[in-house]
Amino acid sequence: MKAQSLSDRGAVDSARGLQAGGIHFGPRRFLREDEERIRSRSYRELEVRPLAPTVGAEIGGVDLADLDEASFREIQRAFLDYKVLFFRNQPLTTAEHTAFARRFGDLEEHPFLPAKDGHGDVIRFAKDEETVGVENNWHSDVSWRERPSLGSVLRSVEVPEVGGDTLFADMTAAYDGLSDELKTFLADKVAVHDFTQAFGWQLDPEARAARQKEFPPVEHPIVRTHPETGRKILYVNVIFTSHIVGLPAEESAALLASLYREAHVPEYQCRFHWEKDSVALWDNRAVQHYAASDYWPKARVMERVTIIGDRPA
Ligand code: SIN
Repeated sequence: MKAQSLSDRGAVDSARGLQAGGIHFGPRRFLREDEERIRSRSYRELEVRPLAPTVGAEIGGVDLADLDEASFREIQRAFLDYKVLFFRNQPLTTAEHTAFARRFGDLEEHPFLPAKDGHGDVIRFAKDEETVGVENNWHSDVSWRERPSLGSVLRSVEVPEVGGDTLFADMTAAYDGLSDELKTFLADKVAVHDFTQAFGWQLDPEARAARQKEFPPVEHPIVRTHPETGRKILYVNVIFTSHIVGLPAEESAALLASLYREAHVPEYQCRFHWEKDSVALWDNRAVQHYAASDYWPKARVMERVTIIGDRPA
């Protein structure tokens, strides 16, 4: 006798996931097409080792301090495909770190995070027994800016042997995995992004008001189109997005909560374990990230530069 298929047994196996017995089993087949497209690329200058089907690759065979044009062009291509690239054994000076990032665009100074002494465009995340890591919430860097970041380059200075990984979620895959109904509903919706949600608490009322004048809340499309790949991306994040314009508060909060959960789906993620002198380059337009804060009281020191992007459309 022929075995019953899942659909004979009442299961719905859609691109979005398998629904069976009242349980939702997560996304399934739709990543395949993108993976095949990405894997069909060939590289002459780089060794490319994917960490997950559509997001994250470790890159070997290059020295970021001394990068020729051909290798840089391949890095640009891999960056667009894999959305986050990792490089090991790159003992960069601060000048080399910023010079590599500047090849992608101008760098910003972050108004709320601590800068490295003498380098306004280098953020220093220094954690130890006294300072616990608080970057453990999914986000895209500076989405509260009118022109949020194109990408970030993070360098490890001191890392714990175990723990302190950074996780990345492919928000292009997350968009692709939404139901057609939800995609249609979101198509013309915009959301407000506001720095006060994450940084407002550390400012006194006067400083907060001044900063709000400088950086007023901004509206970005919930689904943005990547300016270089043309792919659609789910562009809301739990720490900077405050509400959806035009929806009642409760409806907006409930919809945002479900959209934020898309970054939690393991099939959309990769995870990187840092060693000293590792470097990550990620596309803030296409991924969100989460720094696991599981290493206290050990030290973890990282330096980040943030490349200015364009206005989401
Ligand atoms: C960040 O949120 O940019 C910091 C990421 C990390 O420390 O891994």
